[in-house]
Amino acid sequence: MTTITRILALSGCIIGISLLHYLTPLHLHYLHDIFQRLYYLPIILAAFWFGLRGGLCCSLIVSIVYAPHILFQWGGHLTMEMEKYMEILIYNTVGGVTGLLSQREQERSVQLQKTATGLKESYQKLQHQSEQIIVIEEQLRRTEKLSTLGEMAAVLAHEIRNPLGSIRGTAEILKDDYQPGDPKYEFIEIQIKETERLNRVVQDFLHMARPQQAEMQPCPVQKELDTIVTLVSNEAKDRQVNLVLQPQPLPAIINADGEKLRQAFLNIVINALQATPKGGSVTISTTISENGFCEISFHDTGAGIDADTLGKIFEPFFTTKPEGTGLGLAISKKIIESHNGTLVIESEHACGATVTVRLPILDPINGEKG
Ligand SMILES: Nc1ncnc2c1ncn2[C@@H]1O[C@H](COP(=O)(O)OP(=O)(O)O)[C@@H](O)[C@H]1O
Ligand SMILES: [Mg+2]
Repeated sequence: MTTITRILALSGCIIGISLLHYLTPLHLHYLHDIFQRLYYLPIILAAFWFGLRGGLCCSLIVSIVYAPHILFQWGGHLTMEMEKYMEILIYNTVGGVTGLLSQREQERSVQLQKTATGLKESYQKLQHQSEQIIVIEEQLRRTEKLSTLGEMAAVLAHEIRNPLGSIRGTAEILKDDYQPGDPKYEFIEIQIKETERLNRVVQDFLHMARPQQAEMQPCPVQKELDTIVTLVSNEAKDRQVNLVLQPQPLPAIINADGEKLRQAFLNIVINALQATPKGGSVTISTTISENGFCEISFHDTGAGIDADTLGKIFEPFFTTKPEGTGLGLAISKKIIESHNGTLVIESEHACGATVTVRLPILDPINGEKG
């Protein structure tokens, strides 16, 4: 109910009761007694609705309207007149006291509401902070894992690389004793290739643990992606997976360490190829968003990733593959983040997975970040 309707209702009430007083003949005094009590209705309502001022205002109006009736119509009956003046006094007392009480009640409820709102805000703040703590703890755990990994990797790398060097060296010497085409020559070739692969794995560990200084320079995204597609096209053919690089609408240049970026893209594309069954496809597409970012998405038609796995795929050493190292995504994420970008994986069950890499683009004219 609005204030105006309330005032109108109160006025209507007072006018109606007063008319009843003024128009009822005096010999029906029992009716006058009833009408007299009816005035409490608007007074108490006004007190409830408008507090002390409303209650008093209403009782005063009632007094003013009622007084002439007492003075001029009941003037002859002295006891009756006195009684009715007393009633006026009680009207005002009731208006004042009820108004005061209801006003206090209203003030208290407003206060309570304020406290409740304050509490709710504090609770939300607390919740937000605890969420942040959880995220930070998670990051800390990961950093801890990585730093232990770093120390281990440095020692391991040293211990492994030296004997690897000797193995490779001796294999090269042995190779000279055989002619190409000889099966032993092929075996030794395999030995050398595998030693190289091992060396790369060790290097990966080191990359992950002790990132080297990045050599940043303007890199055209499409050119890097072209290189990746060329590199893995044979692998895609072997797996009978259709690898598609969609043409880019606008050339995007980013400030990056090309080698690292290729390493990240390669990890992502190889994961996609490994996840896609025969006859499936892996599509790479690039879009440029308005806020100066380039979004490269790698979509595959593999089995997708369930929610449980999705929560762990960035953890170093997490793998679901018998021959996986579980380092690919951890390294890729680190590389993309060191380029001020983000790497996100989304997946719907049975609809494949989409890896989206977002990187800030360079303004090609000024060489500034867009
Ligand atoms: N495109 C993808 N589709 C399905 N699963 C994926 C995809 N990419 C990554 N994964 C999951 O993430 C895990 C971790 O990937 P990664 O860090 O590259 O290590 P690895 O490839 O050695 O297993 C994979 O073992 C696989 O379960
Ligand atoms: Mg991988």
